[in-house]
Amino acid sequence: MTSIVEPGSDAAAEGAPAPDADAVARRMQDPDWWRQAAVYQIYPRSFADSNGDGIGDLKGITSRIPYLVSLGVDAVWLSPFYPSALADGGYDVDDYRDVDPKLGTLEDFDEMIAGLHAAGIKLIADIVPNHTSDRHVWFQEALAAPKGSPARERYIFRDGLGPDGATAPSDWESVFGGPTWERVPDGQWYLHLFAKEQPDLNWDNPEVREDFLTTLRFWSDRGVDGFRVDVAHALTKDMTEPLQPWAELGAQDEDNQGLHPFWDRDEVHEVFASWRAVLDEYTPPRSAVAEAWVHADRRGRYASPEGLGQAFNFDLLQASWDPASFRDIITKNLTEARSSGASSTWVFSNHDVIRHATRYGLPLEQDRDGRKWLLAGGDESVLDRELGERRARAVTQLMLALPGSGYIYQGEELGLHEVAGIPDAERQDPTFFRSPGVDVGRDGCRVPLPWTTDGESFGFGFAGAHLPQPAWFGDHAVEVQEQDPGSTLAFYRRALVLRRELQGAEDFDWVEGASGDVLHFVRPGGWHSITNFGAEPVDLPVGSVLLTSSPLEAGRLPANPTAWIR
Ligand code: GLC
Ligand code: CA
Repeated sequence: MTSIVEPGSDAAAEGAPAPDADAVARRMQDPDWWRQAAVYQIYPRSFADSNGDGIGDLKGITSRIPYLVSLGVDAVWLSPFYPSALADGGYDVDDYRDVDPKLGTLEDFDEMIAGLHAAGIKLIADIVPNHTSDRHVWFQEALAAPKGSPARERYIFRDGLGPDGATAPSDWESVFGGPTWERVPDGQWYLHLFAKEQPDLNWDNPEVREDFLTTLRFWSDRGVDGFRVDVAHALTKDMTEPLQPWAELGAQDEDNQGLHPFWDRDEVHEVFASWRAVLDEYTPPRSAVAEAWVHADRRGRYASPEGLGQAFNFDLLQASWDPASFRDIITKNLTEARSSGASSTWVFSNHDVIRHATRYGLPLEQDRDGRKWLLAGGDESVLDRELGERRARAVTQLMLALPGSGYIYQGEELGLHEVAGIPDAERQDPTFFRSPGVDVGRDGCRVPLPWTTDGESFGFGFAGAHLPQPAWFGDHAVEVQEQDPGSTLAFYRRALVLRRELQGAEDFDWVEGASGDVLHFVRPGGWHSITNFGAEPVDLPVGSVLLTSSPLEAGRLPANPTAWIR
């Protein structure tokens, strides 16, 4: 691994110091903690396995709290940990108010949250309101109940078309490929925007609305500090017949002006207003962040203080390595967040996309998300791993200097690349099964983390891992990187410690430089962030260099890194 921290910096591979009791208490009580938090996403089944069944679990997370402390994150976002058959990696929830027995118990949950809180780390739980799993008691009741019954009214059942009702009610396509309708034995069809094991709830039904308020209270009472709201923009639907043909509908992230039958309808904000009322019953109020793939102009509605308070913006995650588009996206999102009273969110990697170290190491012009490359088997000859890692660190450092909250996905702090070439027989993602030949799915970013250089499952657990780990994982293990002050892990730790020290008000100003290839901005207290997107080295302004994502060359910023200066 190359050295990426400036020689002479004390860049402490050991990471952030444990916070003292006063700092913990202050952080825990701060109502605005989420506005500029560094949030670490844990995909629980792939983080740490405490009992050797190959599946990460809550006790595994608890055992790694010292690691989270040393990383210096403010909060953990925990992807679904509820009972689930894993038809969609846990986003198919059987019971919203329990823990998957494969992951532990409610007592384990209490222990985990107590440990996180004692360390000053907040917990954001993922909540999945658009659909239940097909094993949820409500769906089982719906299947057993007759057509038109109240049990069916909790979901979206319809008769089919044609004389015998054998044609689906519409030709809509599911997000994971294939039809959105599935037929049940008595001939009716139910709607599922995702996998068929994920029937969509009917958000016009007051019982559904009430039940989710109960769930929000259930977890808030247990100490959950915030919620990440899965597919927040799909809940309310206009199912007035005749249903519009698929060819006439826009995509989910287009500007549909609230007219699409299921994406981004205006009525959804009534639901979130009622959620906000519940979240505000708590001290400090519980935070919420919407996963809403909507047009940037409509994102503020989800992020308003009367609504969820914050919304993900996936614009940078979808941007090419291009300073002009980065600049536009940053300006636009900061303006928009300010006008809705929210703070922005920034993210480059999560459990749904190809890891950003890989995306930035590919010749991407026609394949920005890397999916075609992955589908074609992940040809190593076109992947520049080193370049990808350098650029990934640079954009991460840039992101961590922006006002708003920054999301880090487990493993990116190790510089992990996407795992390509998982054998078909071992794939788990429904995207792979539902879209044969079109998408291999998201398993490549969900492979269990390497903690040690060798040993069973690289220290993920003491037995196997539920997805196969490649041999190169050992070189990226936490154990190796902790010994190396030039590692990506040491870089993340240093960046997060500094961020905490430097972070002040949410002000932000661009600094106009000599070259259009450089993005330079300044934050309160004279904290400058400078990223060189170009091929030529550039001079840095005078000041002390606090951190660079790759070494300087003769005091100048070469191609691809970010520097912080004060
Ligand atoms: C969200 C999740 C994704 C899941 C989908 C359906 O997009 O991030 O992982 O498959 O919702 O719940
Ligand atoms: Ca386990």
